[in-house]
Amino acid sequence: MIRSMKKMTYCLAFAGFVFFQMKALSQDSGTIHFNAETKVFRLDGGGVTYAFGVNDGDELQPVYWGHAVSLQDKLAAAKRLPEAASFDSTANTTPKEFAGWGGGIYTEPALKVTFPDGNRDLVLHYVSHKIDGNTLTVTVKDVERAVVVEMQYTIDPATGIVGRSAVIENKTTSPIMIEAAAAATWNLPQGTDYSLRYLTGRWAGEWHLQKQALLPGEVVLQSKRGSTGHQNNPWFAIERGEHPDEESGDVWFGALAWSGSWRISVEQDQLQQIRVTGGFNPFDFGYKLLPGKELKTPVFYGGYSHAGMGEASRILHRFELAQILPQSPTPKPRPVIYNSWEATEFRVDMPGQSALADKAASIGAERFIMDDGWFGQRKDDHAGLGDWYVNKEKFPNGLKPLIDHVRSLGMDFGLWVEPEMVNPDSDLYRKHPDWVLNFPGRPRTEQRNQMVLNLARKDVRDYVYGFLDDILAHNQIAFLKWDYNRNWSEPGWPTVAPDEQKQVYVEYTRNLYSILADLRKKYPNVEIESCSGGGGRVDLGILGHTDEVWPSDNTDPFDRLSIQDGFSYAYTPGVMMAWVTDSPSWVNNRTTTLTYRFLSSMQGGLGVGANLTKWSDADFATAKELIAAYKGIRETVQHGSLYRLVSPRDGSEQSVTESVSIDRKQAALFAFLHSSTMGYPYPRVFLKGLDANTTYKVTPIAGALRKDSPASATGAYWMSHGVDLELRGDLQAAAFRFDAQ
Ligand code: DGJ
Repeated sequence: MIRSMKKMTYCLAFAGFVFFQMKALSQDSGTIHFNAETKVFRLDGGGVTYAFGVNDGDELQPVYWGHAVSLQDKLAAAKRLPEAASFDSTANTTPKEFAGWGGGIYTEPALKVTFPDGNRDLVLHYVSHKIDGNTLTVTVKDVERAVVVEMQYTIDPATGIVGRSAVIENKTTSPIMIEAAAAATWNLPQGTDYSLRYLTGRWAGEWHLQKQALLPGEVVLQSKRGSTGHQNNPWFAIERGEHPDEESGDVWFGALAWSGSWRISVEQDQLQQIRVTGGFNPFDFGYKLLPGKELKTPVFYGGYSHAGMGEASRILHRFELAQILPQSPTPKPRPVIYNSWEATEFRVDMPGQSALADKAASIGAERFIMDDGWFGQRKDDHAGLGDWYVNKEKFPNGLKPLIDHVRSLGMDFGLWVEPEMVNPDSDLYRKHPDWVLNFPGRPRTEQRNQMVLNLARKDVRDYVYGFLDDILAHNQIAFLKWDYNRNWSEPGWPTVAPDEQKQVYVEYTRNLYSILADLRKKYPNVEIESCSGGGGRVDLGILGHTDEVWPSDNTDPFDRLSIQDGFSYAYTPGVMMAWVTDSPSWVNNRTTTLTYRFLSSMQGGLGVGANLTKWSDADFATAKELIAAYKGIRETVQHGSLYRLVSPRDGSEQSVTESVSIDRKQAALFAFLHSSTMGYPYPRVFLKGLDANTTYKVTPIAGALRKDSPASATGAYWMSHGVDLELRGDLQAAAFRFDAQ
């Protein structure tokens, strides 16, 4: 009797515990559990469950990743899969969380090491673990040698995004050479009905969304360029099912927080298992780890959406805003900026910039940014990089008069810098030719007449930090546009031992991050933009240190619709700067109205980069009106939930986005028409994400609804009945705000 009472009490207590946990889960808290009986680790949060276990061979094996399952659902213990054939050993049939290259595996390893005695076999087994709040550390070790990996897992309670990284420690008595180090391998349920999405591009043509079926074999997304690159972005998404769409279906996605050379490999192996492995790019990689030392990989974030790609993007956006950005969890909205580049290029001087500042202030700009050309002997891109003193011919009394003028107009002041570069025609290069990446005696390839300083060197790191510190200490600067206009060549580091030179791939990026971190610490009110000839350095690593990014040098407002659409798959509009520039656009010689250009740019952080000295009174009036309207919706656009209602991709004639504020009290709708054909009306637009029972009043920002449209209606109406827009012609645009009443 007593025993059964005890059992009942235990059952009730357990039920209470489960109820408590379920409640906690439904309130978006994160939990991490280890079931000692099944040896399964379980991370729950944001409607997602991620589980893996210690299998019967002491390896870490994935168990489940997807929509949250109840804590009452028992997840099966991890169990090695049998040999499928003499060619498919257990080592290959059994998926792993983090595989060392050893024991005969043919899939992508997470870690590959060479020991001084020639041994290259590494088989990692579970040792111990520690749970500390939302962080789990699992320690694994080679079966024979003292190479230890601490695998770190975090779960974001709000979004369910899991962060994974590894710390590799050499506890042997000799140095080891690390030849490949990934942050993590993500495993998806076995199957063949998957498709992969990823982002590709080039200078002025970034953010193309690609889609392909995941077939047997391997797809490699990567940069061997020394930095993130325009060509691929370190983000992926994998959809399941024949007809996944924007708002339904399972989507797994990931983003790597690293701004150096990187690689993400996506495999469907011979047994139809899907693995995604990402981290440092193993190409040309070699990290000599001395005894007692450790190498920390970047963090590879992974998330899951049960409601299609649209929700996958919104989850990532929320995570970036709340967890990644330096001002997280409440980043300030991006101010409306003016940037001088397209107006004056290198021809900056006191009278010209002051005149632009006057005009920028008159339309409501809040920040004035002087771009390239203000320093050293910089007349064009042949000289000056590296010499960070103010050019006296252009600014005889330094920057102060311009900054004072800008500030007196009610704007703050931003300045362009390209700290990691040097022109051979510069005092810095003449004094320190050895400071650039180079192989002695070999040609030094120039791109845009410039070379890359080796930031991995301490003296270079100190120089770069030093001049930036000096500029910020002596000028009232609110913002740095940090540019980076080429990729690496001849990545040599001749002043360290030959077997340490490849560490440049790690140390360079670490020093970049440390400079940014130190500057932010000393100047907490200075904001920074990551620019690399447009969108060449956008990733979750740099976003941990910068407030915004420049997605592309392509400012054609029509091209920009698909650029911004692609960007939004991985990154929040809250960091996406977008300028209104002159028409016809230098990129395509395309002519557009000022309103079209504004509405295209108002879907992100709004900027103006046009030559204001050439604007008419009517242009100023339009700009003033639209900037004022933008300020009324920018919180919604930048920090709200983005719905890509109609994609501009694949030759679509329309493009529609909708942003809904977090409290669902406001929505902003932007609609574009490339070209009317055959007299067809604009397709009806169905809003999303509104509160069905709330009444919203619609106000045009530009353009009009069809005459028979109501001036206000419930969220249910706007979402189910939809809204008809009066858009006809070529390159037309309209925008509306919906406010809860
Ligand atoms: C490339 C940037 O993307 C442009 O906006 C501009 O800053 C130029 N560099 C200046 O050289």
